[in-house]
Amino acid sequence: MNYPFISGKFVTGKDFCGREEELNILKTHINSNSRVYLIGERRVGKSSLIHECVRQISEKKILYIDFWTARNIDDVCKKILQGIISYEKKQSFLIKIIKQFSYLRPTFSFDQNTGQTNIGFSSDTPKMTVGSLEELLDLIESLKKHVVVFDEFQDVAHIPETEKVLATMRSKIQSHTKVPYIFAGSIRNKMIDIFTDYKSPFYKTAICMDILPIKRGLFEEFILKRFSKNGKRKVSREVINYIFDLCYEIPGDIQQLCIYTWIESEDTSEISEDTVKRALRNMLSMLKNSYEKIYDSLSSQQILFIKALSLSKNGNSNISKEFLKLSQIDLTQSAKKAANRLIDRKIILKKSKNYQFSDPFFREWVKSLN
Ligand SMILES: Nc1ncnc2c1ncn2[C@@H]1O[C@H](COP(=O)(O)OP(=O)(O)OP(=O)(O)O)[C@@H](O)[C@H]1O
Ligand SMILES: [Mg+2]
Repeated sequence: MNYPFISGKFVTGKDFCGREEELNILKTHINSNSRVYLIGERRVGKSSLIHECVRQISEKKILYIDFWTARNIDDVCKKILQGIISYEKKQSFLIKIIKQFSYLRPTFSFDQNTGQTNIGFSSDTPKMTVGSLEELLDLIESLKKHVVVFDEFQDVAHIPETEKVLATMRSKIQSHTKVPYIFAGSIRNKMIDIFTDYKSPFYKTAICMDILPIKRGLFEEFILKRFSKNGKRKVSREVINYIFDLCYEIPGDIQQLCIYTWIESEDTSEISEDTVKRALRNMLSMLKNSYEKIYDSLSSQQILFIKALSLSKNGNSNISKEFLKLSQIDLTQSAKKAANRLIDRKIILKKSKNYQFSDPFFREWVKSLN
């Protein structure tokens, strides 16, 4: 069954809502071969914005490299190589790659579902090094009409050889004056560190774009239409408001909850707040196992912290006297320590002085434990 909502992958074309301003700004940067870094919360729509923007520039194509979970320089290089191969599919180019990287003994396979060429390596081949990274970046420069996107770029800052990798990337990219580069990442402070810490090789090398949720009125209209047009289901503004508030206005979470709400309702029926609550319960029962795993891995102080945070107004609080009392954590210092660890683990995030759950559904699950 096709649902009128999409979650878990980037959206483009008619599935992409709003963001006129961001699209225009990003287009200008791309057309002037600039370097831009996008920051924003998880599931806010960074990858979608980039894909939709490049899609709208008819003479450009995206060279997309996702650094998610890269653990070392070898991973970084292989992810770049995979991106290059997905971009340039010409046979002559693949032959060139096989020759150039013959020591890796690469194999190619074609995925009929995605139309993508995938590269594989046998496990006993030598690991790629800084030298390979330089070669790969030279290859990138030799391509045409491309917009290079390094997604989840903050993960490069976690690898043991991060300094060397970032320095190499910086010096190569700096000389690629005819290639636009976009860096994106969902861990705000890590991305900001890479581009604004004067000790970082990427210090002041790119323009920042902070991606906020889609304009609320516009996105509410989009969601409302998807309910009414596709199944003539009636949803009041109040119910839409309830969904948006529950999801902290994060587009990916809104669409996910809407899928469950869609499943929980029928064509031509009226969707109430109760329908959404039932949908949320179903969704939480699906997510239960992974949430339990996270919960079991937390220290007792961290558990006290998230329990109190889940009960705070809008799931949002600073470490005040009231918060300490609610959490039963004795010292501000201990609460801060728990919070920092939870931030590192991407379970909560800090917005100005306040802490908030990264995943609003995890908040609902924790709340249900009280
Ligand atoms: N412009 C948009 N219009 C409609 N829905 C959107 C839009 N942008 C994002 N979404 C919703 O958010 C989901 C996540 O989008 P996307 O993958 O682009 O976010 P992201 O910020 O890159 O997330 P992550 O931090 O997990 O990489 C999409 O699957 C879709 O449900
Ligand atoms: Mg993304």
